[in-house]
Amino acid sequence: MSYQGKLLGIIQIGDPVLLQRAQEIDEIAIQSPGIQELIEDMKVTMYAAPGIGLAAPQVSQSLRIIVFYLPASRDDSQEGAGVPFTVIINPIIEKIGNEFVDDWEGCLSVAGKRGKVARHKKIKYSGYDEKGVWFERQAEGWHARLVQHECDHLDGILYPELIQKEDEFLDVEAWKALNQK
Ligand code: NI
Repeated sequence: MSYQGKLLGIIQIGDPVLLQRAQEIDEIAIQSPGIQELIEDMKVTMYAAPGIGLAAPQVSQSLRIIVFYLPASRDDSQEGAGVPFTVIINPIIEKIGNEFVDDWEGCLSVAGKRGKVARHKKIKYSGYDEKGVWFERQAEGWHARLVQHECDHLDGILYPELIQKEDEFLDVEAWKALNQK
């Protein structure tokens, strides 16, 4: 494909699109130029931000598409090899077990902030890839956190809602100072 993708604007918390439930995409529409271009644009926009995950509502498209990748340096799973760039359309998450992990998250739609959120340690997820092929993976640790965070965007949920302690929602500068101690 010759289409190179273009930068899209990332909307910020307060925009009503971020609170909507995003719509499923028909399997036959996945190969349409409109969806294929949106996926390329989301990829370019995520890397440029820079970020490691992006959901379509964050670029004002209320559709069930997420993109992400996990660098090896942030992969705390047993293999620790990282996760290559991945597109999931109409993702489904199955939470495995009752183990939760607390960690700090950021979001391209909540600029300049970090907050501590509990997430399921292990999940299974499935959905269509960018070619319309259904796939399934297991994930744990940061890989699982990232997919849970991005899928929340499709249901109108932003991570600040999930923070349990008021003092665990910080400006990036305060968060950096805390983590250097
Ligand atoms: Ni986010």
